[in-house]
Amino acid sequence: MKIFLDTANAAEIQAALELGLCDGVTTNPSLLAKEKGTPEAILKNLLKIVPGPVNCECVSLDAAGIVAEGKNFATWGKNVVVKVAMNHEGIKAVHALHKLGIPTNVTLIFSASQAYLAAKAGASYVSPFIGRLDDISQDGMQLIRDLAAIFRNYPALKTEILTASVRNPNHMVQAMLAGSHIATAPAKVLLDMEKHPLTDIGIAKFLEDHKKSQSATK
Ligand code: E4P
Repeated sequence: MKIFLDTANAAEIQAALELGLCDGVTTNPSLLAKEKGTPEAILKNLLKIVPGPVNCECVSLDAAGIVAEGKNFATWGKNVVVKVAMNHEGIKAVHALHKLGIPTNVTLIFSASQAYLAAKAGASYVSPFIGRLDDISQDGMQLIRDLAAIFRNYPALKTEILTASVRNPNHMVQAMLAGSHIATAPAKVLLDMEKHPLTDIGIAKFLEDHKKSQSATK
């Protein structure tokens, strides 16, 4: 499973790139608002430092506006993915961008029917938001399992499932088990994935025993 960083913070992305753990980046207006600088300046910088896809989200509500934004983003770099919110105008825009050869990611997906339409319209990626489904007491991960099964049934669809709204390491593991192509996670989730209390206890015990054997040889 590919890992994308769900952040607009260049330092977090750089740190993950140095570990070989960043295959791409997703941003959204809320993530961009947390950083210093205009969305355009931040995205242009990310497009330079990230070799993989960088998602740039449109804010227009009509198809013509979304397509215009998408065409402009596409001039910023070869690795631009135009992120489009799921609704009727969004689908219209995704199909138009697909015909222009511009990759898109349909975001704010909460059902399999939405994902299937986005894929049929030509989306390169669909982003089901599992954390936000969990927040309203639905089983977010079931959506990923359903989508993986549906996409397996129709191999002609080349759309990738990009599990989004990831909140913890278990979401990442469950996404892998379900067969998600990609999961996008905040940097903190990647750091949490490294940890296990038994690892820390094990390291402490090995060091303690090493010290003991050092003093025994003196
Ligand atoms: C990524 O594409 C989404 O914008 C992001 O994962 C949403 O996550 P949140 O539900 O934690 O805001």
